[in-house]
Amino acid sequence: MLFSGRTPAFLSLSLSIASALGALYTDPSQLPKKKYDFIVVGSGAGGGVIGSRLSESPSANVLIIEAGLNVEGAVATEVPFLGPNLIGTPFDWNFTTTAQPGLGGRSIAYSRGFALGGSTSVNFMVYTRGSKDDYNRWAQVTGDWGWSWDALQPYFHKMEKLVASADNLSQAGKLCPEVHGKSGPLPVSLPGYSLVTDDLVIGATADLPHQFPFNEDMNSGNTIGIGWVQYTIGGGQRASSFTSYIQPALNRPNFDVLINTQVSKVYQTGTQKGLPIFRGVQFSQSANGPVFNLNATREVILSAGAVKTPQILLLSGIGSPSELKKHGIKTIVDNAHVGTNLQDHPLLSSAYTVNSTATFDAIGQNPALVGDLLNQWETSKTGEFVLGPANQLGWLRLPGNAEIFKTQHDPSAGSTSGHYELIFTDGFVSFAVPSPSTGNYFSLFTNVVSPSSRGSITLSSTSVFDSPNIDPGLLNSPFDIFTMREAIKAGKQFMTAKAFKGFILEPFGEFADAKTDAEIEAYARKFSTTVWHPTSSASMTSWSSTNGVLNPDLTVKCTVGLRVVDASAFPYVPAAHPQTAVYVLAERAADIIKGKHGY
Ligand SMILES: Cc1cc2nc3c(=O)[nH]c(=O)nc-3n(C[C@H](O)[C@H](O)[C@H](O)COP(=O)(O)OP(=O)(O)OC[C@H]3O[C@@H](n4cnc5c(N)ncnc54)[C@H](O)[C@@H]3O)c2cc1C
Ligand SMILES: *[C@@H]1O[C@H](CO)[C@@H](O)[C@H](O)[C@H]1NC(C)=O
Ligand SMILES: *[C@@H]1O[C@H](CO)[C@@H](O)[C@H](O)[C@H]1NC(C)=O
Ligand SMILES: *[C@@H]1O[C@H](CO)[C@@H](O)[C@H](O)[C@H]1NC(C)=O
Ligand SMILES: *[C@@H]1O[C@H](CO)[C@@H](O)[C@H](O)[C@H]1NC(C)=O
Repeated sequence: MLFSGRTPAFLSLSLSIASALGALYTDPSQLPKKKYDFIVVGSGAGGGVIGSRLSESPSANVLIIEAGLNVEGAVATEVPFLGPNLIGTPFDWNFTTTAQPGLGGRSIAYSRGFALGGSTSVNFMVYTRGSKDDYNRWAQVTGDWGWSWDALQPYFHKMEKLVASADNLSQAGKLCPEVHGKSGPLPVSLPGYSLVTDDLVIGATADLPHQFPFNEDMNSGNTIGIGWVQYTIGGGQRASSFTSYIQPALNRPNFDVLINTQVSKVYQTGTQKGLPIFRGVQFSQSANGPVFNLNATREVILSAGAVKTPQILLLSGIGSPSELKKHGIKTIVDNAHVGTNLQDHPLLSSAYTVNSTATFDAIGQNPALVGDLLNQWETSKTGEFVLGPANQLGWLRLPGNAEIFKTQHDPSAGSTSGHYELIFTDGFVSFAVPSPSTGNYFSLFTNVVSPSSRGSITLSSTSVFDSPNIDPGLLNSPFDIFTMREAIKAGKQFMTAKAFKGFILEPFGEFADAKTDAEIEAYARKFSTTVWHPTSSASMTSWSSTNGVLNPDLTVKCTVGLRVVDASAFPYVPAAHPQTAVYVLAERAADIIKGKHGY
């Protein structure tokens, strides 16, 4: 966290209650007595797109039920720079993982957005599509070419609106405009404030072009190399599935959103050709509060995210009979894969001391500066507060002859996908240790982005108000720890580039002592956390495969009327920050659903 250990007073978030918008409800008993064609569970990247796109058709009545809070008026959800400060606030589910063997037995905090807009209202806004190979692998394992990179291009273009950065600097050489959409609902822009470190990082790619090539646009299909970060930021302000999809649609008479309400399960409303129909939704506002039931006339769409969607499926009797039996839940659909195959990206940040007084550290160390920057942001949407956590990052591959490939299969999707990611931040950022109260730093993030480890979501109780057991399996395979170690070595190598001379001083803290391979691995296990990228806990496979939870059209196997549209559906986590992949999956899903019902 940028201000770890301190929470400036302005962060006391103003939680507005029901707004003037007629279709936003905060109490289930206020819902109009109408028939909903579609009931969508969750308003994040998946649910926001689905609710908004389906309600484009005036004859489709759509309801989103969202567990979390309204974000309107909460300035910390609007100011890009304050994204990291939302961790551990009322907008966070505050999950915790099970003890992670790969992390030396530690349990770690596992943030998810408890908000209108889901995790897109609290995330760090990095906009990366993933690679051509990532999507082509989805297409291959599902047998549906519609999930391929080429087939999804119209959807990437439909959702994006490439806009100027907050400082209006030229985009030339920093991205390729032709690969981007220009008129979609989701603004995408380059960092809107220049940093001293910009020239150093880009300069280092010129110094070491063979190992660390510059990539002009990592969203063009080939992610490999280091370049400028693109963000879901427009006009210096966060864009989320709420601001881009839900809010602009709330004036539609056929679109309602109910917040502060948790769906506890979906229930069977009939049988069709021997298969259970799941069009019933049960929900309430607290563990002991009144319980409400509502049936959709066409479909229920689960978009509760990779942690809660499998929990809801399990609570609904869709899962492994032996697991369900432990909790006294009757199995309606026998599917042992619900909650398995969970994937995530391990994150590690390491800091260097620097020869500068102009890093982000000043902001955390000087409360007066925070007030000034917030004021500047509010009056002109300029200054450091328009920034996300880094202006440059990159995706890199292990060498083809790396020793690990003698014993381990390469889990990456192909040559356009990285094995690891490097992120460069002009200040001290750690999610494992508090920020030092003095000094100036440069943070190097090393993230494993094509992991071979798999985790799981399992029930801890029969109540949706309890967290399920979350085991992301971080650094829990020989490949993943090897890759983390080599990423750290590569990162150290990058920092030796001529461009950094006179700026980078020395490794800070325990990072300085991590020298041998064994020491680096021990350091990684001690301090790694998560990039908050859980996916694939209810994954799609081909129509004929029984080795998965969803069909390629995202319907739940062996059911009628029930679909999943969120990060749980991914067969594999892309080697990328995944919000873009969820948005694009949901854009295509909306078309599939409209097509099915003739809208
Ligand atoms: C701190 C953080 C930083 C991140 N940074 C980035 C980044 O920079 N770039 C990037 O690409 N990705 C980032 N991500 C990940 C990205 O935001 C997610 O991958 C994406 O939002 C997932 O979309 P989703 O629809 O699957 O789930 P979510 O967006 O999490 O939406 C799920 C929604 O369902 C709701 N819900 C859950 N259970 C219930 C229930 N029982 N009843 C009703 N509603 C329910 C939740 O409250 C939530 O609103 C970050 C995530 C976090 C937490
Ligand atoms: C998360 O923790 C914060 C800080 O303790 C708390 O204010 C907030 O209500 C918690 N979130 C939820 C969903 O309970
Ligand atoms: C950038 O351009 C927009 C639109 O022309 C303008 O409103 C804004 O003030 C400009 N910002 C800066 C920092 O020049
Ligand atoms: C939902 O459908 C089932 C089965 O048709 C019916 O028994 C139940 O009453 C319906 N519930 C509501 C709230 O309409
Ligand atoms: C720090 O930077 C100044 C110039 O900005 C330079 O003169 C000095 O040598 C640098 N110090 C170190 C230790 O590199």
